[in-house]
Amino acid sequence: MIDAAALRQAFRDVYGLQDGAPRLFRAPGRVNLIGEHTDYNEGFVLPMAIDRETCVAARPRADRVVRIFSVNLNEHAEFDLDQPGERERGLWLDYVEGVAQALERRGVRLGGADLALSSDVPVGAGLSSSAALEVSAGLALASVSGREVDPVELALAGQEAEHTYVGAKVGIMDQFIAALGRAGHALLIDCRTLETQAIPVDTTDTLVAICDTRVKHELSASEYNTRRAECEEGVELLRRAGLTDIRALRDVSEADLEHYGRALPEVVGRRCRHVVSENARTLDASAALREGRLEEMGRLMYSSHESLRDDYEVSCAELDQMVEIATSLAGATLGARMTGGGFGGCTVNLVRRDALDIFRETITREYTDATGRTPNIYVSEAGEGAGEVTSDE
Ligand code: GLA
Repeated sequence: MIDAAALRQAFRDVYGLQDGAPRLFRAPGRVNLIGEHTDYNEGFVLPMAIDRETCVAARPRADRVVRIFSVNLNEHAEFDLDQPGERERGLWLDYVEGVAQALERRGVRLGGADLALSSDVPVGAGLSSSAALEVSAGLALASVSGREVDPVELALAGQEAEHTYVGAKVGIMDQFIAALGRAGHALLIDCRTLETQAIPVDTTDTLVAICDTRVKHELSASEYNTRRAECEEGVELLRRAGLTDIRALRDVSEADLEHYGRALPEVVGRRCRHVVSENARTLDASAALREGRLEEMGRLMYSSHESLRDDYEVSCAELDQMVEIATSLAGATLGARMTGGGFGGCTVNLVRRDALDIFRETITREYTDATGRTPNIYVSEAGEGAGEVTSDE
């Protein structure tokens, strides 16, 4: 949680108060329980918002200039809405300018603004700090410009910022859950229709624990775009092999793949097998979560990890190590898997509440011994999506 009073104070220190007090907006990070690398294949995902967030203090300006102060980095930046900056500069500003330009392209006319932002979503940990930034900044800019923005539209603008300004061909999951998360629930999102079902995450006996490996391998961005291209190639080849009515891997069943998959090169075949099986697991896991069959949910999480490791090849030694340690704690852990894009970042674990201390101690000790890095472990309830902060809490 960001200290709203401290952020208001930081805003005052930078911009003064002569033009009135700022309004505050927030958007959370996320963890995906299951359904990895399925969103850009028009499939299913099951993320929840976490209790870490990005907060933006904002006040409108009379012109079309947006000035931003980052409390975390102690850095100033600015852009002009009428003179779009260069794309893919590799700066944090790309996310903010990217979402502003995307909102304008979508017909949400913005005015200039002064912004101060502060975040406790760890950067580069696979908990979607970038989506939290895009969605909170987009909401702040639209709101102080007097524009209502539909949360789905806001999420799509955040995704467009990634495609245009950041250069990552991401799916819709991260921005969607940042905009539309629901407290106490995970969302089963159909990434084709954008329909959702909210599924309660009951934490009476079982908690969601996130273990950060503290590594991020350079590969992640380029490999992400490669995976996406391999999936598209798979669809094309399956169509040519006779599955003529498919639009995305979402339309392919496990039986179809068994039959037509022979037409695919070995690597593409494994990529497709991951996506097709992961979609089935995500639907099964959602039903298991809804019905309180958490052992089954955990089993599906373990098999999701194996599929991401062996077929999709987006895991890494540190993530595998983390999952292996969790697996060895059979009395404490119901399920564990890498979460997010992969090549580092975090695992997500279902842990029995009464065994949390053992889980923490063992993961910390054994992971540190094996890798020389101290992991970060967070336990999070499912939080609420983006919105305005009206109190000083
Ligand atoms: C990243 C992307 C998401 C999704 C995941 C993998 O987080 O931003 O759209 O593709 O990777 O599931």
